Amino acid sequence: MAMAAPLWFPLLVIVLAAAAAASAPPAAALVFPKEALPTKSGYLPIPSPNASLYFAFYEATHPVTPPASTPLLVWLDGGPGYSSFLGNFFQIGPYLLSSSSNTTTSPSTVPLSPNPFAWNRRFGLLFLDSPLGTGYSAAPSVSAIPTNQSTVADHILAALQSFLAAESPELRARPLFLTGESYGGKSIPTAGALILAANPSLPRGRRINLRGVAIGDGLVHPVAQVATHAEVAYGMGLIGDAQRREAEAMQREAVALARAARWREASDARAGILAWLQNATGLPSLYDAEGAAASSLDAVAAGAAEVFNDAGVRAALGARRRADGGAPWQLDNQAVEDAFHDDVMKSAKREVDALLRSPGTRVLLYEGIRDVQDGAVAAEAWVRELEWDGLAAFRSAPRAVWRRSSGGGGGSRLAGYVQRHGALVHVAVYEAGHLVPASQGAAAQEMIEDWVFDKGMFGTTAAA
Ligand SMILES: *[C@@H]1O[C@H](CO)[C@@H](O)[C@H](O)[C@H]1NC(C)=O
Ligand SMILES: *[C@@H]1O[C@H](CO)[C@@H](O)[C@H](O)[C@H]1NC(C)=O
Ligand SMILES: *[C@@H]1O[C@H](CO)[C@@H](O)[C@H](O)[C@H]1NC(C)=O
Ligand SMILES: *[C@@H]1O[C@H](CO)[C@@H](O)[C@H](O)[C@H]1NC(C)=O
Repeated sequence: MAMAAPLWFPLLVIVLAAAAAASAPPAAALVFPKEALPTKSGYLPIPSPNASLYFAFYEATHPVTPPASTPLLVWLDGGPGYSSFLGNFFQIGPYLLSSSSNTTTSPSTVPLSPNPFAWNRRFGLLFLDSPLGTGYSAAPSVSAIPTNQSTVADHILAALQSFLAAESPELRARPLFLTGESYGGKSIPTAGALILAANPSLPRGRRINLRGVAIGDGLVHPVAQVATHAEVAYGMGLIGDAQRREAEAMQREAVALARAARWREASDARAGILAWLQNATGLPSLYDAEGAAASSLDAVAAGAAEVFNDAGVRAALGARRRADGGAPWQLDNQAVEDAFHDDVMKSAKREVDALLRSPGTRVLLYEGIRDVQDGAVAAEAWVRELEWDGLAAFRSAPRAVWRRSSGGGGGSRLAGYVQRHGALVHVAVYEAGHLVPASQGAAAQEMIEDWVFDKGMFGTTAAA
């Protein structure tokens, strides 16, 4: 049995191939277009010797709120080990990497195209390469890479504190939301709960104005989620009944190992189920039952390692030079993934409970309905286990059909389903896989903007 199912196998193969190609004689430095530069980027110190986390911050381009109250979004990606650039340059940032770079001209320009569905239209948007070791956040040594979510949360809190302290007090007063996807389902609520716990003992001028967390296709409470894979694949028509029973037996084993706190074996068992399912279904990736999101991203991801390791691009983005201890940029860092092996089956549900129980914070969960691995059914399975007094009312709340107007024709198209009560909103996004904004950018932008502003279908006020 494989130690770990490749999270995104086809993508990984191409990225590794690109990394190999990058060791060929260096091409001329690439030019990073000025208009696509972050408002601010660089490194934020964290409580680990000689270590810091890389950040890229983009101020809101078209805010509808005064600067002092324009919300701030923090984006954390998954893996563990994926750079936040998976979000930034492939999903929600202001410019998306459109194809592999053209290195036949000198100097050539990084091919970026404006993203009409960027999340920094209404909000300031901060991408953090976390955990330490991810993306441009080079770890001083392999042993410095964190191995659990409490260290990750400590690092995120410290990085946020230094980001907020570097600017005027106005920045700190802005409402802040932690967002992200996939394995970020662990670090987002853990960092959120740590902020809530830390705030009361901090002087007023050092508190973080956390208002909510948003988790896309997250792994949050794996012991409940791992028990849904067979049902999901069978329900989608991807496996037959005998295969379903085989998968269910494997799931029971993973659950039993997790309940016995045999974390390493539980993690292996989960990886085994996912590898088995991928083989049985023949899908290129369990992240999308239609394979579409994965394959379209494969094409652009091919050139990503080459672009983000280019000396000119590193300098433009404020990343350390390779010669100054900057590690090579990788879309997915294997050493980080290995460091978290024992963390995979551990839960972050209690931290979501804490966020829901706290009067000032809200929780948005959203998943693409084509995600075979971390989709809506997997989310419902752990949501049922929340320890929150709004749970019964949430579970009996109607699941509303979400439609969006489609261009000038006056028609509307199905965008998904929204269930909400009190501080919790759950959205299943139609025609999307694991990386929701990659395939449904317009819908994802509408969702995040309305949720942050607490209005429309994604507002909590009307549901209470
Ligand atoms: C931190 O950097 C200093 C100066 O380069 C070095 O002497 C020291 O060993 C480093 N510490 C660790 C823990 O890497
Ligand atoms: C690269 O740039 C050169 C010069 O502008 C152009 O002739 C060539 O078609 C470009 N190649 C690609 C793959 O875009
Ligand atoms: C997390 O890892 C750190 C450093 O390895 C360790 O000191 C700490 O006890 C761990 N915390 C938990 C909750 O496992
Ligand atoms: C992969 O699936 C095929 C059937 O599609 C099966 O014959 C084979 O045994 C499977 N391999 C593994 C390693 O499960």
